[in-house]
Amino acid sequence: MTLERVAPAVAAAVAAVKEDRLWRRHLQIAEIGATGRGGVNRQALTPEDAEARRRVLGWAAARGFEASVDPIGNLFIRRAGRSPTARPIVSGSHLDTQPTGGNFDGVFGVLAALEVLEAVDDAGVETVHPLELAIWTNEEGARFQPTTMGSAVFAGALALAAALATVDAHGVGVEQALAQTLKAAPVVNRRAFRFPMTAYLEAHIEQGPVLEAAGKTIGVVSGIQGLRWFRVEVTGEEAHAGTTPRARRRDALLAAVDMVRALRDLMLDATDTARFTVGRFEVRPNSPNTVPGQVLFTIDFRHPDGTVLSRLGDEVAAVCRAHAGGCAVDVIETLNSPPTEFDPRICELIQAAAARQGLPHMRIVSGATHDAKYMAGLCPTGMIFVPCERGISHNEGERASAADLAAGARLLAEVMLRLN
Ligand code: GLV
Ligand code: MN
Ligand code: MN
Repeated sequence: MTLERVAPAVAAAVAAVKEDRLWRRHLQIAEIGATGRGGVNRQALTPEDAEARRRVLGWAAARGFEASVDPIGNLFIRRAGRSPTARPIVSGSHLDTQPTGGNFDGVFGVLAALEVLEAVDDAGVETVHPLELAIWTNEEGARFQPTTMGSAVFAGALALAAALATVDAHGVGVEQALAQTLKAAPVVNRRAFRFPMTAYLEAHIEQGPVLEAAGKTIGVVSGIQGLRWFRVEVTGEEAHAGTTPRARRRDALLAAVDMVRALRDLMLDATDTARFTVGRFEVRPNSPNTVPGQVLFTIDFRHPDGTVLSRLGDEVAAVCRAHAGGCAVDVIETLNSPPTEFDPRICELIQAAAARQGLPHMRIVSGATHDAKYMAGLCPTGMIFVPCERGISHNEGERASAADLAAGARLLAEVMLRLN
């Protein structure tokens, strides 16, 4: 189909995007797992995650859109196209959140794609390809590591068996939690991994301060910086705090603190490009008068340059061992995800559509990671960012404006239709 012939349909669908419907749905999903402090705790494969899935499935069913689910629980909602064999044009994100998460991270990408499917429907536009919404399982990686688990399994970057065997901090496995989630939010149709897609798009809040500072409504995302995750287990010896002389101690906490300091120094750069975070730190037995016998901590290390990501990431284990004191240390890498570059043709398409819609825009590299990185290995992929207030994210104070969210959804509508 030529652009000229598709243009009136694009205009009709874009005009049918409803800011108030999109905003209202954000508020409705925000009720599920609400913390009472403006944010949500809706971690992956919890009853809250199941409830959010049910809510979206209900909206889809009311439209007659068909739902399907794959073996790791990724959900797909389809508005059929004219050709039953044409590869779908897919867009989505995630409904799970951080323990103290906000109301837009992930949710926006899900609701924007649903809004596009509904707007296209309201405008009475017939597409050749099916349009599909994807809801990826466990994007956050807060409860079960690693992050972007569902899309990694879908793409073949992580074995299904390994994902299912992952346990949370209380020993509950993905397999059991997924079964409970799918029982609470049932979907009959089964979907295979790696089904062919025409293209994948993901709309998301930026989660950083760049767009707001530049006064832009849209980020045309050129790629995602690289990310490596490690779990470090330090084992010393529990001992009496009042009686054990220094020479006799094997204090896992002091060793872990030395490791974290040394790693912080390793990652320090003049340009403030490397991102180094120790987000989890567990001390056992966590008693005031026992020398800690065991510490577990996590490392989240990110860099846009794959060479630097490899070089510094490869030093992590050696640095930990060098600062172990008398303790034993195990460094387990749970994720190694190189930088991703999105398809230049998709970036061009997004940029041209933003210009046509009169939306101030700029190119941007994503600091956060997204399921789109795994889709980029399977089909032409791109992302659309909208600003969030002061760049605050992974925080209950995360905010975005209804107008910016609607602008992102309108842009997504045009891009999905122009791919048709
Ligand atoms: C996603 O939540 C990330 O950690 O970038
Ligand atoms: Mn996200
Ligand atoms: Mn997130």
